[in-house]
Amino acid sequence: LQKMERLFLLCSGLLVTTVTSQHNVCSRPQLSGNIEMSGIQRFSSPGEELALACKEGYTPLSGPRKIVCTINGVWTSTKLKCIPKQCPHPELITNGELFYEDTVYQSAINYTCHEGYMMTGESSAVCQANGTWGSPAPECIPIPCGLAPVPLYGMVIYDKVIRGNTVNYGLKATYICNPPYALFGNPVAECTASGTWTKTPECQVVTCPPPESIERGYMSNNEKREFFYRERVKYGCESPYVLEGNVEVVCQENGKWSEKPSCKAPCSVNLQRARILHNGKKIWIENFQPNRVLHLEIVSVYCMNEARKCGYAVPTQCIDGTLNIPKCFEEPSGVEYTLKPNSLPSEIDQC
Ligand SMILES: *[C@@H]1O[C@H](CO)[C@@H](O)[C@H](O)[C@H]1NC(C)=O
Ligand SMILES: *[C@@H]1O[C@H](CO)[C@@H](O)[C@H](O)[C@H]1NC(C)=O
Repeated sequence: LQKMERLFLLCSGLLVTTVTSQHNVCSRPQLSGNIEMSGIQRFSSPGEELALACKEGYTPLSGPRKIVCTINGVWTSTKLKCIPKQCPHPELITNGELFYEDTVYQSAINYTCHEGYMMTGESSAVCQANGTWGSPAPECIPIPCGLAPVPLYGMVIYDKVIRGNTVNYGLKATYICNPPYALFGNPVAECTASGTWTKTPECQVVTCPPPESIERGYMSNNEKREFFYRERVKYGCESPYVLEGNVEVVCQENGKWSEKPSCKAPCSVNLQRARILHNGKKIWIENFQPNRVLHLEIVSVYCMNEARKCGYAVPTQCIDGTLNIPKCFEEPSGVEYTLKPNSLPSEIDQC
């Protein structure tokens, strides 16, 4: 209870002082809106004028610059407006970014450089009271790498023409090893943002064992020696075998030869009584000498269209010694073949 009484007394005491001071003097005015005044006096008498000004960094926009202490001990009001000074809009910087929210007094611009670029100058600028930026925009200059290291037995090809002894971030270099050396590692290196190159590949000797022979075929080189990376050997097939795959194999960087070809067998047409179509010519089977169709070659046999009583050619392909005779083909009896050859599907009207 005592506490509350004391609080009340304190409040009423304050009230009294305020009322008395209102009588004939004005106390120092509370100014807002970035307005300030000259002088340091605490009280003014009625009739006294006070000059107002804008704080540093602010410009007066409108309104009277003076207030007067009235007889009531109250200052006249002011419509003075102070607006912050504007700094010029910043310009973009190359190879960097800038961040800012405003360009008024005390606002700041932050600068950053893109990856691989380093900054020379201040990373931020503050708008000063006189409307200028505290520091000029920084520059972002590329972080240089030295020239790419050259591996033993290899060479470097840059993506761009190089001048001097440094290259810029992001430049790529491609490595080549001089055969028989083969390249191990990433053939492309790059100047990184930290000014160093990514890993340089190595050039190492690579050999392949003597190439393997192929059945029914031969090689351009039979030497029983080690072959170097990129060395080549050719294959061929004995007649009438046909080569399938690559004619040439190469010693690869993994020490193995590229896939070798194979020799594919010819087919014979296993028919006793028929006329066939081969290379655009119709031939009676007994006249087809030698009875041989090479791998992948096509021959046609003749089938009968029973409904329309006409003949038609059906092609079939020789695949490594196998020639399938189409199902529709019917081999005639010996009597039919020798006595009535004109009624065979190959001889009658074609469908
Ligand atoms: C500028 O950088 C300062 C300090 O890192 C940060 O407080 C401020 O928010 C930044 N301003 C902008 C506009 O990015
Ligand atoms: C602006 O103010 C700064 C800091 O007070 C000063 O260094 C600079 O010279 C002034 N610039 C102009 C144009 O007055």
